[in-house]
Amino acid sequence: MGEDAVKSEKHGAAAGDGGKPDNPDWTIDQGWDGYTAAEHHVWKTLFERQGKLLPGRACDEFIKGLGSLTLDADRIPDFRRLSDVLAKRTGWQVVAVPGLVPDEVFFDHLANRRFPAGQFIRRPDQLDYLEEPDVFHDVFGHVPMLMHPVFADYMQAYGVGGLRAGKLGVLANLARVYWYTVEFGLIEQDGIEQADGLRIYGSGIASSHAETLFALDDTSPNRVRFDVERVMRTRYRIDDFQETYFVIQGFDELLDLAWIDFGPIYDRVKGQREIEPGVVLATDRAITRGTGAYHHGGKRAG
Ligand SMILES: [Fe+2]
Repeated sequence: MGEDAVKSEKHGAAAGDGGKPDNPDWTIDQGWDGYTAAEHHVWKTLFERQGKLLPGRACDEFIKGLGSLTLDADRIPDFRRLSDVLAKRTGWQVVAVPGLVPDEVFFDHLANRRFPAGQFIRRPDQLDYLEEPDVFHDVFGHVPMLMHPVFADYMQAYGVGGLRAGKLGVLANLARVYWYTVEFGLIEQDGIEQADGLRIYGSGIASSHAETLFALDDTSPNRVRFDVERVMRTRYRIDDFQETYFVIQGFDELLDLAWIDFGPIYDRVKGQREIEPGVVLATDRAITRGTGAYHHGGKRAG
């Protein structure tokens, strides 16, 4: 045991040179037959737990997408079958990768309507938290929304935009848009602008039992109306619950984002200071202003 053993637990791009597969697009065979009974059991535990928790908490589009995929609670999905269902609906497919992939590889897949999903599943002692995206996060969290035509277009546009943002040197700004929409987005259900009308569509929330409860029910985080320029300036936490969630009013708002030219927004954002994750600005439309108790013990600065 030692450093090597710890390193070997990382996957894909997070594992250093050893994590890179032969294919330049980083895809691998899912090796579905190789999953053990214990690994299928981890899937089942997570699937059943979230399946019970999400109705009434995830948005209708997520629940509908999840239902249409007809995933089997008892076993990790076979990506070939999953892709058949998905391709018929929105033209997307799911491809297996070892874990995180380099940005340009990720964007290229999205731009071509391929969602790269981690092949591995977390260990039984990691049910509640895992920093790397595994098959449960990637499939259960992301694929239901890819069944929705508008969201499917938004994801492709993000891939195209990512390739461009890389060349412009503004990837950090675009990544925040992805983070606060695709991963941690909330939506107003039926235009109800109050905390109990909010629903989840972000995969990082939908695939996490604890964050599902935190994002919707806890008094600690802020819930602020989404604004693309504001979000591009906002830092985020990768290792804990979010301090602020951004709320869209409908998926058409994302579709609009897919069509506008981000160039002028990048230019405006460049000269402005970054915003810390827990800060609410005077110009924000806050739906709920959090106590900050979880991250700051109730004390708020600024
Ligand atoms: Fe994700």
